[in-house]
Amino acid sequence: MSLSALQPIPAGVANLADFEAHAQAAMNAEAWAYLNGGAADEITLRANRSAWDAIQLQPRVLRDLSGGHTRVPLLGSELAHPVLLAPIAYQRLAHADGELASAYAAAAQGAGMVLSAQASVAMEAVAQAFAAEPQSGPLWFQLYWRDDRGFMLELLQRVERAGFTALVLTVDAPVHGARDRERRAGFKLPADVRAVNLGGLKKPLDLQPGQSALFDGLMPRAATWAEVDWLRANSRLPLLLKGVTHADDALEAHKRGACGVIVSNHGGRTLDTVPASAELLPRLREGVGADFCVLVDGGIRRGTDVLKAMALGANAVLLGRPYVHALAAAGAHGVAHALRLLRDELEIAMALSGCKTLAEAGPHLLWSARK
Ligand code: FNR
Ligand code: LAC
Repeated sequence: MSLSALQPIPAGVANLADFEAHAQAAMNAEAWAYLNGGAADEITLRANRSAWDAIQLQPRVLRDLSGGHTRVPLLGSELAHPVLLAPIAYQRLAHADGELASAYAAAAQGAGMVLSAQASVAMEAVAQAFAAEPQSGPLWFQLYWRDDRGFMLELLQRVERAGFTALVLTVDAPVHGARDRERRAGFKLPADVRAVNLGGLKKPLDLQPGQSALFDGLMPRAATWAEVDWLRANSRLPLLLKGVTHADDALEAHKRGACGVIVSNHGGRTLDTVPASAELLPRLREGVGADFCVLVDGGIRRGTDVLKAMALGANAVLLGRPYVHALAAAGAHGVAHALRLLRDELEIAMALSGCKTLAEAGPHLLWSARK
């Protein structure tokens, strides 16, 4: 599989949000509802954005910032900047090149990438795109638990062979959220977009009359902490849990050998009315202490959002929908451009707030009316 011809960046795109209208024009209404929608009343989806906006920065002036940079250490390697692409399923809904375009763009821009278990492009092709770029960031594989240990073992071996360097088990979505927008639009996967890295699923459990399809059919097959132990025992790759919101769950993850967590409410797509990521992050960081690896996603759209996340204790951030908007609007070129814009904004935000390196970012960068 190779990329299609280079597409121009649409005129007038100055920031990540500017890609959105172009993406909507490029996608059909059903796929758009799937991509942009959230769960139920979309309260968490909106809160993710408004919470970053509500945090104010407190700049310091006249500091010597020469030699400043955006580099951060992450799980033993150094990233050029603290941005990874979040796992987003079925990216061929947005563009024929799908995850392959995102991978080339991320690798070229030194961003990390977490490939969705439900990617619509073969994991080996994505891994090759990363391997071809010496400056690339980390490439991780996201898993949804499948209650079939034989299948999971094969998957883990394939992921390791392909060259992914960490596993990300998503723990906040044992069932699809109540996605009203998606259901209203009547979204169904088109025949030519599939989760190509997953084989056939086991047949659902047979239900007795009166049993719940969810609690008796699905939940017996969902992951618990025992499956976290199983993953640790059956793969050499480091494991992160994505969708952790409570410090006690992060501490449990640490105890069971996970190397980090991603604070996330799944972009407001799972349980509606969960607090915004920007609210969850500082409390979780406080609860787990400084040493555990904590990433965050949800609503990050601006370099200032990235700086705020780092000031609240994140080790790095993940970008979700905006890069898929850029993908829909302009393929690999669009995603690369979006990542460059975000990094430029981060550098500007650091320079204007008097922050030379992200190691220096802390609560002192944030305005507090009480002080
Ligand atoms: C997602 N997300 C997601 N997460 C995951 O662990 N596995 C997946 O396959 C998907 N798929 C997916 C599809 C779509 C269309 C969206 C919008 C999101 C959640 C994703 O990784 C991330 O947590 C959020 O998208 C972050 O929020 P923002 O940046 O989109 O606001
Ligand atoms: C979603 C699933 C795939 O959010 O995680 O659509």
